[in-house]
Amino acid sequence: MALERTFSIIKPDATKRNLTGAIVKKFEDAGLRVVASKRIHLTKAQAGEFYAVHKERPFYDELCEFMASAPIVAQVLEGEDAIAKNREVMGATNPADAAPGTIRAEFAESVGENSVHGSDAPETAKTEIAYFFSGLELVG
Ligand code: CMP
Repeated sequence: MALERTFSIIKPDATKRNLTGAIVKKFEDAGLRVVASKRIHLTKAQAGEFYAVHKERPFYDELCEFMASAPIVAQVLEGEDAIAKNREVMGATNPADAAPGTIRAEFAESVGENSVHGSDAPETAKTEIAYFFSGLELVG
């Protein structure tokens, strides 16, 4: 297993309900280390650029509105197999399908307002980290 970095967002539905600490605890309990973190309020255009891969999906506009509706916490998580581990801790995209004990099972409100985002592959992680952080801001 390799030491990896992945990108994570704590989404507006979670920051609004003051769940940042509870969600970070889930990451840390799973052995992931927060090596960068910032709380920011995206514009709809910035959210649209981040989620450009979903541009043709019917939920794209709703997704961008939601991501710009309140602050998010953008983070870089580091650990053994961090990409897969983060996805395991988050649970399935739709909270109705998420395994018990996962972040989405415990906190997500719907498939759209699902509390967290996590990179799905090494290339995506690299691009997503670079969208939010400079190398100087990654402190392992
Ligand atoms: P995320 O992992 O951030 O990646 C894309 C996001 O699109 C996803 O989580 C959901 O929040 C959102 N999404 C996926 N499917 C739907 C859907 N059917 N309706 C609304 N939003 C969705």
